[in-house]
Amino acid sequence: MGGHLDFGYPWWLSFGHLAVFGVVAAALLAGYVRKWPRWLIVLIGAVALWSGSVFLLIHFGVDINGQAALPTQSFLRSGTGRVLDVGAGTGRSSIMVLTARPQATLVASDLFGESFEHHFGRGESPRERLLRNLKAAGVDRRASVETADMRKLPFETASFDAIVSSYAVDHLGREGVGQALSEAARVVKPGASSC
Ligand SMILES: C[S@@+](CC[C@H](N)C(=O)[O-])C[C@H]1O[C@@H](n2cnc3c(N)ncnc32)[C@H](O)[C@@H]1O
Repeated sequence: MGGHLDFGYPWWLSFGHLAVFGVVAAALLAGYVRKWPRWLIVLIGAVALWSGSVFLLIHFGVDINGQAALPTQSFLRSGTGRVLDVGAGTGRSSIMVLTARPQATLVASDLFGESFEHHFGRGESPRERLLRNLKAAGVDRRASVETADMRKLPFETASFDAIVSSYAVDHLGREGVGQALSEAARVVKPGASSC
């Protein structure tokens, strides 16, 4: 292992909702003291509730900048096999699988296009950043990185034992989600795990 994990999610995704919460909480207090109309107080209160809950969810539920735990022990129960991560980004879900299943190998695939830059910035090459995280987690020897569009995967039919993806299909339109799901079903062996 070397270096530290940096999934590279920007500050606005980590703390943007907290900033909104701070502003609306101050407005709520001002509205209460100055006796603003009830409907306005309710509206501001709803925004405070939304921003506060999303902040808590991002930090304590999803924990986007932390190392994720495998959500189910049913995933690749045999503990060994070849796994595909689609929309791997900076490696959060790949590292989750490789850490929980130390006998498995994994292909971390991503389009590495505009959506990647939108999430993780333009500074470092996307592949470099993903590789750096795989190395930092000590799992790089069991992983390879491929550029691939999840709507048309460049992999052979039934060539993986399991497939994983996190927070990625939501970036596709309805048609794209359908294409990605049928591609996922094509590249895994019958009865394979997914999460
Ligand atoms: C929010 S990030 C999630 C990254 C990672 N799975 C995680 O949990 O941190 C979404 C990723 O999906 C990728 N992506 C978007 N559209 C894609 C497509 N059509 N094919 C492959 N990857 C795509 C983006 O490049 C980005 O890295």
